[in-house]
Amino acid sequence: MKNIAVFASGSGSNFQALVNAVETNELQASIKLLVCDKPKAYVVERAANHSIDVFAFSAKDYPSKVAYEMEILQKLKDYEIDLIILAGYMRLIGDTLLQAFPGRIVNIHPSLLPNFPGKDAVGQALSAGAKETGVTVHYVDEGMDTGPIIAQESVGIAAGETNESLQAKIQRIEHGLYPKVVQTLVLTKI
Ligand code: GRF
Repeated sequence: MKNIAVFASGSGSNFQALVNAVETNELQASIKLLVCDKPKAYVVERAANHSIDVFAFSAKDYPSKVAYEMEILQKLKDYEIDLIILAGYMRLIGDTLLQAFPGRIVNIHPSLLPNFPGKDAVGQALSAGAKETGVTVHYVDEGMDTGPIIAQESVGIAAGETNESLQAKIQRIEHGLYPKVVQTLVLTKI
């Protein structure tokens, strides 16, 4: 059984979807650790509800990205983590973690990459007047949402679509897609 660490910064609905998939055996892996850079984020409470250990930190307490990533790396070693799943982690991953986990860090992004990378991908798609957008799961490299794509699913943008309605559609897709893709990863190359 592979050991997973989820990195998140916010509400953690994708974290929850992964935990649920483990509990129903759709995802055959063990979520050992939540890494969170916002100690008050709701995702921390979700982890506690499922007795999942949390490493919460504030970047401002460290002199550099290298310093906090070294501490994260030690935790990942302690928990014998095989795979890092980013789920709304609002920081770029640095060399310390990229070099320690080559090809073993994945992210989910709310657009059909390479369209609309970075922040507020849903708002970007609406402002661009796009007819469709979607969800991408991809490997993480040093760029912002630039790594090799693993899976994508599209969603239509209806006339009169609001940010909230589109966000809801996208999240529904994310919650189905992410556990499935992670399951294929734990069964195959990771
Ligand atoms: C998701 O939309 C994901 O695509 C993006 O951040 C959001 C996280 O949402 N990277 P949640 O915290 O999982 O609810």
